[in-house]
Amino acid sequence: MSVIDLVDRPAIDPYPLSPYVAWAGNRNRDPILSVFKELFPKTGDVLELASGSGMHINYFAPHFPQLRFQPSDYDADVFESIKAKRAEAGDANVADPVRIDLTNPETWPDPKDRLYDVIFVINLFQVAPVSIIDGIAQVAARVLKDDGFLAIYGPFKVDAKYTTQSNEDFDKEILAAKVPEWGLKDVRDLERAANAHGIVLKQQLGLPANNFILLFGKP
Ligand SMILES: C[S@@+](CC[C@H](N)C(=O)[O-])C[C@H]1O[C@@H](n2cnc3c(N)ncnc32)[C@H](O)[C@@H]1O
Repeated sequence: MSVIDLVDRPAIDPYPLSPYVAWAGNRNRDPILSVFKELFPKTGDVLELASGSGMHINYFAPHFPQLRFQPSDYDADVFESIKAKRAEAGDANVADPVRIDLTNPETWPDPKDRLYDVIFVINLFQVAPVSIIDGIAQVAARVLKDDGFLAIYGPFKVDAKYTTQSNEDFDKEILAAKVPEWGLKDVRDLERAANAHGIVLKQQLGLPANNFILLFGKP
């Protein structure tokens, strides 16, 4: 992270409608979009988990007019923001948000309704318990097409090590808040847990600001 970033950066606050989350999203949305442009199919269905304000899904959707985008979150309070951003962007291919709580199987989508070509989730793990991967992998096992993929974006440790000094500094900063589930998670722990649900890590892509896109799928 550069000195300019640190000066501009609002105080860390994981609330999805906070200035900090908006700031982070404005920095990461173009790098993520350029990877998605390489990976997304031309047609089909895309599910976002933990959509928050809806800033990503509504930013990406116009670039893929033949795809149908489904936003979701466990916090129904963010749905108005998702719909407002959809209206602002004029997105015709973004559905109404649905409530999916990754810790509650009763809220998970039914494969009889729809299967997805892509499932993605952005910046959830650093403010959630690592066990959230169990929910994500089980949702993917249920509703991801056999040739679809699950993309997880965020900063991670790899093999119990920080990949950069800036990720170590960021982790120390969030750990200092002493919220038990906050902190960088390890790609290996995600991989192990996902494997137990029949979902495997296929690729680990490096993105700017020392983040990754982890690509998972069915074996
Ligand atoms: C830091 S915000 C990131 C939001 C958005 N992905 C972004 O990058 O702007 C984390 C999001 O995870 C959601 N979340 C937390 N726990 C969840 C759970 N158990 N199931 C589904 N969503 C959850 C929160 O409501 C919040 O919208």
